[in-house]
Amino acid sequence: MAQKTALEDVQVLDLTQFEAGTSCTEALAWLGANVIKVENPKGGDQGRGASTDTPGVDSHYFMLLNANKRSITLNLGTDRGRQIFTDLLKKADVMIENFAPGAIERLGFGYDVVQKINPRIIYAQVKGFGEGPYENYVSFDMIAQSVGGALSLTGTTETEPLKPGPTIGDTGTGLHCAIGILAALHQRERTGRGQHIKVAMQDAVINFSRIAFARQAASGKAAVRSGNRSALGTTAPSGLYKCKGGGLNDYCFIYTTRAGNRHWDRLLKAIGRADLIGDERFNSPEKRWTHHDEVDRILSEFTQSRTKAEVMKMLGDAGVPAGAVYDTMEITQDPAIQKREMIVTVDHPKRGKFTLPGWPVKMSESHVAVDRAPLLGEHNAAIYAEWLGLTARDLEELKGKDVI
Ligand SMILES: CC(C)(COP(=O)(O)OP(=O)(O)OC[C@H]1O[C@@H](n2cnc3c(N)ncnc32)[C@H](O)[C@@H]1OP(=O)(O)O)[C@@H](O)C(=O)NCCC(=O)NCCS
Repeated sequence: MAQKTALEDVQVLDLTQFEAGTSCTEALAWLGANVIKVENPKGGDQGRGASTDTPGVDSHYFMLLNANKRSITLNLGTDRGRQIFTDLLKKADVMIENFAPGAIERLGFGYDVVQKINPRIIYAQVKGFGEGPYENYVSFDMIAQSVGGALSLTGTTETEPLKPGPTIGDTGTGLHCAIGILAALHQRERTGRGQHIKVAMQDAVINFSRIAFARQAASGKAAVRSGNRSALGTTAPSGLYKCKGGGLNDYCFIYTTRAGNRHWDRLLKAIGRADLIGDERFNSPEKRWTHHDEVDRILSEFTQSRTKAEVMKMLGDAGVPAGAVYDTMEITQDPAIQKREMIVTVDHPKRGKFTLPGWPVKMSESHVAVDRAPLLGEHNAAIYAEWLGLTARDLEELKGKDVI
């Protein structure tokens, strides 16, 4: 018997596109939900075709964000398409979309309508902005990161504001939305009712920027970007130390707690400088911060003649927080990361072997093996038969009328 999964009885109608919505439903799929992408027959999720290196073949971007889902096509611009979607909604637990503001209402499926079709449904929306002057604006990750504070906090005062590499405005919002959906499913157990969930990308990034508000509270001024230095400006070391090799990422990040000297003392022992334990210049986080140039010099002497892997191992073994700067290829090739299915290779009908990151949450009673993303409309026959009892002939007719 197949192993049970946490959300195996949850049916999700997924109208999402690009990343901010698709990352939400991918998470739900990895928790075991039955996620069905409902896509425009004319090209589907815009992420399929955008930035693909091979026209007509789904982009790698799409394949990274739509694993473990199935796909049906449905033209919601037609009466028949809207009628079919209404029938699907009656059987769903969750509906989610991230179109531009007003688009889903124009298609005829605003919350007020859907709630009447299925009062148990959890209806989730991702938008760029929450209620306020910008609520009708469209958005992408970099816009959300700008207005959520992330750019103002990244880089140094000598650089212009920088966009963080990871797409926290998109995937960060998707994961917030998934948390809301899980809570709503739990609440429905008690009330029998669904609810309306809205997540603004700006608000999700503000949540990720939370710690900067401690800096603001302490100084009375807007938090400034501090590069690799401790965000709160109260301890050293906190920074990148150049290692042997001279490559773009041949660095190790070394940090010691701002709550005492434990890590610092271990660090000094590990690098052969036990003579500095208790030294007046360094015997509190604040004093180390005052003398951070000297701290950096001492550590650089140690790191420059060793590879980042050696530095990380020596310090990690000694109980010091240290992290080599890994690039995506090093992550991909790391056997331990592969073993715990954080890097997985799947077979794709058009692309062949494709390697992607898996799902970081490991659960003892729910395991979903990573599977490839679906082709556009790949599951029309299976889903329309399973959910609505439609036959091959019905589907032929719907295709002829541009409904699917
Ligand atoms: C991402 C975004 C900027 C893209 O903007 P866009 O391409 O100009 O606008 P939309 O995505 O809403 O457009 C999709 C269109 O396809 C239509 N469409 C989508 N699925 C359809 C279907 N199954 N059948 C028929 N029409 C469909 C929509 O109705 C809409 O048409 P309209 O413009 O006539 O209303 C915008 O959707 C947005 O701001 N979304 C909210 C924030 C967000 O999630 N951003 C993405 C971060 S990755």
